[in-house]
Amino acid sequence: MEVSRAAIKGIHGYVPDYILTNQELETMVDTNDEWITSRTGIKERRILKGENQGVSVIGVEAVKGLLEKTNTDPLDIDLLICATTTPDMAFPATANIIANKVGAKNSFSYDLQAACSGFLYALNTGSQFIASGMYKKVVVVGADKMSSIIDYTDRSTCIIFGDGGGAVLLEKSEDDTGIIDSILKSDGSGEPYLHLKAGGSRKPASLETIQNKEHFVYQEGGTVFKFAVTNMANTAAELVARNNLSSDNIAYLVPHQANKRIIDATASRIGIGEEKVMLNIHRYGNTTSGTIPLCLWDYEKKLKKGDNLVLAAFGGGFTWGATYLKWSY
Ligand code: UT7
Repeated sequence: MEVSRAAIKGIHGYVPDYILTNQELETMVDTNDEWITSRTGIKERRILKGENQGVSVIGVEAVKGLLEKTNTDPLDIDLLICATTTPDMAFPATANIIANKVGAKNSFSYDLQAACSGFLYALNTGSQFIASGMYKKVVVVGADKMSSIIDYTDRSTCIIFGDGGGAVLLEKSEDDTGIIDSILKSDGSGEPYLHLKAGGSRKPASLETIQNKEHFVYQEGGTVFKFAVTNMANTAAELVARNNLSSDNIAYLVPHQANKRIIDATASRIGIGEEKVMLNIHRYGNTTSGTIPLCLWDYEKKLKKGDNLVLAAFGGGFTWGATYLKWSY
């Protein structure tokens, strides 16, 4: 099989309509707009409301929009990967549900879980099927309904997260653009600092786990913050150096949107000014697997063919990484 490079040929995003503002959070927990804005950069986030509305709702809307924009017949999709930490159900995979609802009847599909690095991992996984020549059209979704695992009485986590996501279409690159290089890492010793205690096979749901609020995100924010700043920035810097990139030839840093201060530290480490950093944390908060596709969607109109982008993420696991790509359209 011929080995080639995968390129992003389209991007589309979706966020639910409901806006949860800092002002509304002030009525729910002991917090204030000034603290949230200065410590995280977040002003509002979107929440998917309603009965029986799983993360697949976000994925389906994103993929439908993507297929329409790129004029892609759903029957031509070979593979659909969904990166998510908040699947509709433990099984079947949310990717199966999305593929069915968008009519991707000829595809196979599966979920990939790497917390906030999920989209980066899935993008690199999907791109290998294109690069190897095995498949022609791969859709990668990154989406989360974080509101389903957040305790809205815990001020240290409920102010951060939101719901949303996006999807990209990967095809073979016909020129020098596409996904060029990546560094992906994980270290399971991060488990104590960021996890969800119950509902998995180690501690199935029980009355006790519900009473102990063990179905919500547990995070030791300060420790996660330190690991995030160090690892995301160092990995992005290593990738930038080994590809001879600099502030002169990088069009945008596309960072996971967890905290504006982590984003600023990463940008400063690779010598990138604010104007070259994709930022929408103020509008959506941390949507976990959704942040990077939502950034690409928001900035799509500003991108030009050949633009050098550096994607970087850090999340639970710990998982982290960075990807260098040349924008293809
Ligand atoms: O995306 C996945 C990876 N996750 C991350 O990257 C998140 C990394 N961590 C963070 O972004 C930050 O650690 C947080 C935003 C979670 C917290 O910010 P911080 O500056 O690390 O605050 P802290 O936890 O050290 O708390 C400082 C103070 C504490 O009060 P005392 O003990 O100093 O009196 C907290 O109780 O701020 C208090 N605090 C709040 N005050 C008002 C914590 N949350 C709030 C709040 N409103 N929402």
